[in-house]
Amino acid sequence: MQLSYILWLFFGIFIAYNIKLYMDSKVYYEMRIDKDSIFINLFGKSIGNYGLELACKQFQDYVNVTKFDANFQLNGLTNIQQLLLTLSRFKKLKELNLQLGINPIQNTTVPNIQALLIQLQNLETLNLGLDNLFNHEGRSEIIKSISEMKKVHKLQISLINTDLSDDKINMLLPLAQMRQLKSLELILMGCSLSSSSTKSLQTLLYKLPKLDNLVLNLYGNKIQVDGIDDLSAGLYHQKQVKELEIELYFNNITSNGTETLMSVTGQMTNLTKLHIGLEFNYIEDQGAKYIAQALGNLQNLNDLSINAASKNFGFLGYESILLAIEKLSTLQSLQLIIGVNKCGSRGADLLKKVLYKHDKLKTLILDYTENYIGDAGASFVGEGLLSQKKLEFLKLNLNFNSISDRGAVDVVKSIHNLKHQPKHIDLRLSQNKITDKASKEILRYISNITQQGVELFEFEFLGTALTNATRDDLVQTSKNLNNFIFIVDTIPPSYWDEQ
Ligand SMILES: *[C@@H]1O[C@H](CO)[C@@H](O)[C@H](O)[C@H]1NC(C)=O
Ligand SMILES: *[C@@H]1O[C@H](CO)[C@@H](O)[C@H](O)[C@H]1NC(C)=O
Ligand SMILES: *[C@@H]1O[C@H](CO)[C@@H](O)[C@H](O)[C@H]1NC(C)=O
Ligand SMILES: *[C@@H]1O[C@H](CO)[C@@H](O)[C@H](O)[C@H]1NC(C)=O
Ligand SMILES: *[C@@H]1O[C@H](CO)[C@@H](O)[C@H](O)[C@H]1NC(C)=O
Ligand SMILES: *[C@@H]1O[C@H](CO)[C@@H](O)[C@H](O)[C@H]1NC(C)=O
Ligand SMILES: *[C@@H]1O[C@H](CO)[C@@H](O)[C@H](O)[C@H]1NC(C)=O
Repeated sequence: MQLSYILWLFFGIFIAYNIKLYMDSKVYYEMRIDKDSIFINLFGKSIGNYGLELACKQFQDYVNVTKFDANFQLNGLTNIQQLLLTLSRFKKLKELNLQLGINPIQNTTVPNIQALLIQLQNLETLNLGLDNLFNHEGRSEIIKSISEMKKVHKLQISLINTDLSDDKINMLLPLAQMRQLKSLELILMGCSLSSSSTKSLQTLLYKLPKLDNLVLNLYGNKIQVDGIDDLSAGLYHQKQVKELEIELYFNNITSNGTETLMSVTGQMTNLTKLHIGLEFNYIEDQGAKYIAQALGNLQNLNDLSINAASKNFGFLGYESILLAIEKLSTLQSLQLIIGVNKCGSRGADLLKKVLYKHDKLKTLILDYTENYIGDAGASFVGEGLLSQKKLEFLKLNLNFNSISDRGAVDVVKSIHNLKHQPKHIDLRLSQNKITDKASKEILRYISNITQQGVELFEFEFLGTALTNATRDDLVQTSKNLNNFIFIVDTIPPSYWDEQ
């Protein structure tokens, strides 16, 4: 008894020391506690049950907080009673973000979670992460309890890697009772959904009253064309949404599925935000044209993200999307992810024209990985960037594009010459044909940029045939730069000759 007490004490101190370390060294993003809100990120820290109890001690007295935002995923937790008890004392809580996924939490915990939800009478926003947790019955019970929370108007439920095959997805149907919902986000990545699964989503979208914000993340399922038909019929009842995010990575929806989906999306004329993820769906040039047609109707968009990467189309599909983007008059944020297609330097020239038209973007994210743009294309992209007057966030991925010195230096020089310096820049020039000489010149430009008050500059420069001496020199130079993250390696110079 005595010995085990001492052991526990020792263990406790050890864990407490660990938590203190998180708090001391990374205090800004690991744990922030004040009288109104608590923020904790302990993702993957393996703190175990006892570590969780000690973490609870750090915040248990802040009973008046209105916001609790915590990520406890992947921590080897089996018992979370202390956490649930602590949270149940936060009577003023309005916003709860609780990520508990990927922990071996006992199935018997389900009723305790339900009890907590009942007690949080003032909750308005609930984000609950149940990835890989409990059994089907347990999860269904929790969803039922959520559906009875009458004040919650913003709801996010994450069920990543949860088996929702066959009719198991019906467990989401009680959510249709939440007449007050304005925002619904369902994260159903890798849930074994098939084309018939979307019937339930259709029913849910049909029964819910009008939402403003809708997020459906169906990444890595197998819903196919038929599934898209049902889903689109559901979306038809939510035409008023203002913000829509649909992620369909690897669902084989093809150009026919794209036609159905985009025909409904095109009727959502009040959309200000549209994020659509169609990577790896074989949409082809024709599918891209359906996207373009829909965009033609969406003249209120200010935040657009299109991910049509991976062997979806050639120049024609790309061209139709770009021409449609050019006509959107109120765009402030543009994300275009078209890696592994064939837009070529002609495509980069077209991008330049579009950027000239949209010269007041605040966010620009371009992923042109492996699109055969070459030096001419890189220079076009650079010229397009030069038109930007208000950029705050720039991310440019030109990996695998056969760019040599001229194009690479042009791009960096353009970023250097931007009249309005973005706060955050992420540039990727990996796997191109850039020499030692140009690499040093590129780093000199970047060095100047980092001295002009950029908050973060990330530069990825992998798979380039540099000599070791140059690589070491670049790394050495980079160490003297502030707010700079440099990811570099080198490959033997003979690499390209062998190609
Ligand atoms: C919480 O608020 C109440 C009044 O609403 C106050 O009496 C109490 O001291 C507060 N507690 C803490 C820990 O701030
Ligand atoms: C919960 O129950 C399921 C099956 O009903 C089981 O596979 C799983 O291992 C149980 N979880 C724990 C942590 O015991
Ligand atoms: C868009 O908003 C207007 C004004 O609120 C409304 O009259 C119209 O019906 C909405 N459009 C759709 C497609 O819901
Ligand atoms: C993709 O969908 C098409 C048409 O719906 C079908 O013919 C094809 O077999 C599907 N491919 C895969 C890999 O599921
Ligand atoms: C797409 O739809 C057309 C017309 O409805 C049909 O002829 C064609 O077979 C469909 N293609 C696929 C791949 O399902
Ligand atoms: C960097 O800035 C210095 C001083 O402003 C200037 O002399 C130099 O030419 C700049 N280097 C490059 C590569 O633009
Ligand atoms: C260059 O560096 C790599 C990795 O740091 C090393 O494996 C390689 O042997 C070096 N090449 C020469 C020629 O020193």
